[in-house]
Amino acid sequence: MSDDEIKSFPEKKRMFYPPRKFVEQANLRDPSVYSRATSEEGWEIFWEDFAKDLEWIVPWEKFIDTSNIPFYKFFVGGRINVSYNCIDRHLETKRNKAAIIWEGEPEGETRVLTYQDLYREVSKFANVLKSLGVGKGDRVAIYLPMIPELPIAMLACARIGAVHSVVFAGFSSQALAARIDDAKAKILITCDGYYRRGKIIDQKARADEALKHLKEAKIDHTIVAKRAENEVVFSEKDLWWHEVVMDSSQKCTVEKMDAEDMHFIIYTSGTTGKPKGVVHTVGGYLVYAYATTKTIFDLKENDIYWCTADIGWITGHTYIVYGPLSNGATILMYEGAPDTPHKGRFWEIIEKHHVTIFYTAPTAIRLFMKWGEKYLENYDLKSLRLLGSVGEPINPEAWWWYHNNIGGGNCPIVDTWWQTETGGAVITPLPSLTPLKPGSATKPFPGIFVDVFNEKGEPTKPGERGYLVIKRPWPGMLRTLFKDPERYVSTYWSRYGKDIYFSGDAAKKDEDGYIWVIGRVDDAIKVAGHRLSTMEIESAVLEVKNVAEAAVVTRPHEIKGNEIVIYVTPKEGVEADEEMGKKVILHIREAIGAIATPGLVVFTSDLPKTRSGKIMRRILRAIASKDEIGDLSTLANPEIVETLDNSVKRGVSGVIIAG
Ligand code: PRX
Repeated sequence: MSDDEIKSFPEKKRMFYPPRKFVEQANLRDPSVYSRATSEEGWEIFWEDFAKDLEWIVPWEKFIDTSNIPFYKFFVGGRINVSYNCIDRHLETKRNKAAIIWEGEPEGETRVLTYQDLYREVSKFANVLKSLGVGKGDRVAIYLPMIPELPIAMLACARIGAVHSVVFAGFSSQALAARIDDAKAKILITCDGYYRRGKIIDQKARADEALKHLKEAKIDHTIVAKRAENEVVFSEKDLWWHEVVMDSSQKCTVEKMDAEDMHFIIYTSGTTGKPKGVVHTVGGYLVYAYATTKTIFDLKENDIYWCTADIGWITGHTYIVYGPLSNGATILMYEGAPDTPHKGRFWEIIEKHHVTIFYTAPTAIRLFMKWGEKYLENYDLKSLRLLGSVGEPINPEAWWWYHNNIGGGNCPIVDTWWQTETGGAVITPLPSLTPLKPGSATKPFPGIFVDVFNEKGEPTKPGERGYLVIKRPWPGMLRTLFKDPERYVSTYWSRYGKDIYFSGDAAKKDEDGYIWVIGRVDDAIKVAGHRLSTMEIESAVLEVKNVAEAAVVTRPHEIKGNEIVIYVTPKEGVEADEEMGKKVILHIREAIGAIATPGLVVFTSDLPKTRSGKIMRRILRAIASKDEIGDLSTLANPEIVETLDNSVKRGVSGVIIAG
């Protein structure tokens, strides 16, 4: 959300108080939870109480170890297994309860897995992994779409102590290869294909292509789940999932993991072209996922909980798989797109399965808004009692639309701010306790110490823009970057010293202490809620033949929040044309994936630069956004600005040749 939007927001003063009906049934009704969890004597107890709800093989001796900051440890000495806590722990009381209700994209296709089914499938698959030589600490790459085999594979890894690295199924072969290489995974799990917008995506072929690009890792086997029955090419290293599990035992003892053993790696975009391998560990992450899911979503025994994120991103890890399952909840998983086969698909699913909690992204809400209310008319959404939003700032207009049209004016909305690195929600309302201000993620979760700092490291005054920081460690935080502890320290724990976590986001506090997140201040960008990096895209563009220079910026987009705009300088003597533009776009899709497709590619003979040769991205962003361009006095070549500005004013999207 821009500063101006926050300033001009007419509803800012209008708070939304939790409806009485919701409060009366809520799990959490005592507002003193905030003061208790942040008090010196209460802080550890607050977290330890949640940890005690889980089953530990060996209890922890100490809540936190701060002897080598910022390499914090939590639940020191404790031993626990994540898979056990997400499945076995519930068997006695919930054996026949649905753990996963899965809805395929083709209409009518549903699969239900009870906790007993999940136990059997996970154990069988865990034994398969073991039989292929996968042991504790080994990395397993998972390149699966939203089918039940994805959480099954993750929980099977957790069962035997293997470290999963789930790569979003929409990422390209090259992006997958880079992630397999970095993690040195030895097994790859994928599928034949899956449905997306009515088409079958040939996932196995994309996985095969990735294996050709590997530089360091050696994949021993690819396990292929059968989903779309499309034809695939098989090599002797490939194994069908359904064949290998056939004779596999249904019992698999769990690995006694140390609380600080690695649980998973998840790659995310940062300041350079190389994605960062964010490392989460077993104990602290699980406690955090469990505690935040239970309280933020007010989970109850009969809830049908639907988070529309893809499990390939952190939201899906924490709030589809580990948080809800550790709570013994029923999750709904949907394979496909919101408009397939029709634009009322989501509402049809909510009605069909009586979804009670619905958690989605502002981009999706803005899309539904654009489509209009007519797609809601035929569906009964009265089962809903709580809504959530995640991934990017939600504009108040979208908030009210969501509230009135999806929530029927009765459901609290939990706008949850967090990051791949934080493991779970950090700034969020508690739906029964926190009055909401549309557009603000409200307040830190109890037990979390958030602030907004100015350049000097002082807390900002209300209304002043600054950087969002976290002043005390929390159990769900990342522990390091895979094979790169220096980058871990320099990225997150250097700006204000080793004891202050720097989020990379700008924010403001208001007079009530509510936090308004403005957006990223580094080269990470958010497009339709997906986190990408301008540097990653620039490196891809530079690989295209005849490209001399490239600069990637974003401009506001009414649905996606932001849209990618690329400025490209061709090599001396090369005439850029539409064809070259198409090559740039195609290459980005190959190097990263369709989610990084630019809205506009501008070819230019030159880029605005300072006298020392630095590309002035601020100016490029202003041109792309049709904003005030501002001061040009530091530019070595101010004349190019007018040329670019005139050209961009003429073009809307696609490829433009400036000049
Ligand atoms: O800029 C913030 C934005 O998303 C970034 C983190 O992206 P990622 O690691 O992909 O995790 C997304 C899922 C948690 C943050 O640095 N962001 C996330 N949630 C919100 C948000 N911005 C504003 N409001 C939110 N609720």
